[in-house]
Amino acid sequence: MVGPCIFISRSNLPSVIYTQLNKLPVEIRMWKETGPMWSRQASPPREVWVEMFKECTGVVVTLGDVIDRSLINESDKLIVISTYSVGVDHIDVKAATERGIYVTHTPEVLVEAVADLAMGLLIALARKIVQGDKLVRAGAIFDKWGWLLGSEVHGATLGIIGLGNIGTAVARRARAFNMKVIYWSRTRKPQIEFALGIEYRPLEALLSESDYVVITVAATPETRHLINEERLKLMKRGAYLINVARGDIVDTNALVKALKEGWIAGAALDVFEEEPLPSTHELAKFDNVVLTPHIGSATSETRERMAEVAVQNLINVLMGKRPLYLANPEVLSIRPLQPLI
Ligand code: GLV
Repeated sequence: MVGPCIFISRSNLPSVIYTQLNKLPVEIRMWKETGPMWSRQASPPREVWVEMFKECTGVVVTLGDVIDRSLINESDKLIVISTYSVGVDHIDVKAATERGIYVTHTPEVLVEAVADLAMGLLIALARKIVQGDKLVRAGAIFDKWGWLLGSEVHGATLGIIGLGNIGTAVARRARAFNMKVIYWSRTRKPQIEFALGIEYRPLEALLSESDYVVITVAATPETRHLINEERLKLMKRGAYLINVARGDIVDTNALVKALKEGWIAGAALDVFEEEPLPSTHELAKFDNVVLTPHIGSATSETRERMAEVAVQNLINVLMGKRPLYLANPEVLSIRPLQPLI
């Protein structure tokens, strides 16, 4: 029996997605592309999306798939978009909600992995690990006092922008490194302040006080270019900026200017306004910049758990049950859940 159609936008996601769906009376359609999850190039062409949005009941998408209002308006039978990511900034969630489409995502399971990467980048910057690696490979002779002298991590002040789950996990790690931790967030979190011994600061004060600034805030229209030229100028000349959230929270041109003119000591970026970052990009020319290709959640365990959650979210909606993580709970009153399989 052929049941509702489910479209999966990549063929290289963890196999649990395919095996779980295969157990159900559904028809699976899959795009054969295998590029990285954030890659727009690996996303199916628009005509394929339009066809799938018209014919399918559910879709599994990733960060590189831009699901905008015009595509959502093409949908006919579609009731669930399950994204294999915590971020939903590639989906017009409002448009989906208006059309009664459930948007589900994978928070929580990737929190610790992303926080680990943030600390890894911070330490790599502070202790010039990547520069050291390059010098050793190049056979450099360390004969100059001052070579590779880094900055202290313990005792330094870390400013966290956005105290959601990931920001809180970074704060916990930083406290274990004996750092002073301050944070800025849209809403103050007194319980976390008390539990972790961290302090709230207005954004401008945080930027001027921190030795390291880690961005973990969600991407929304309000946080686009939150870190702009004016705010970069507030940072200490010896401070470092680390972004593990979304590229467009930082104005890239302003950051390049800040690095060129020495307003800050360096930056580590896992996310970019343009992904993949072209290897010829100005950012790639700085020795004091560490670049990673959007690998915050990239551990086998975390990616496996994200896949389990993504597929379970989708299955729950098909079965008329509340998904594990719903990005648009308002949809429940627009299209009440009912079993389809
Ligand atoms: C990663 O950036 C995610 O949103 O899952």
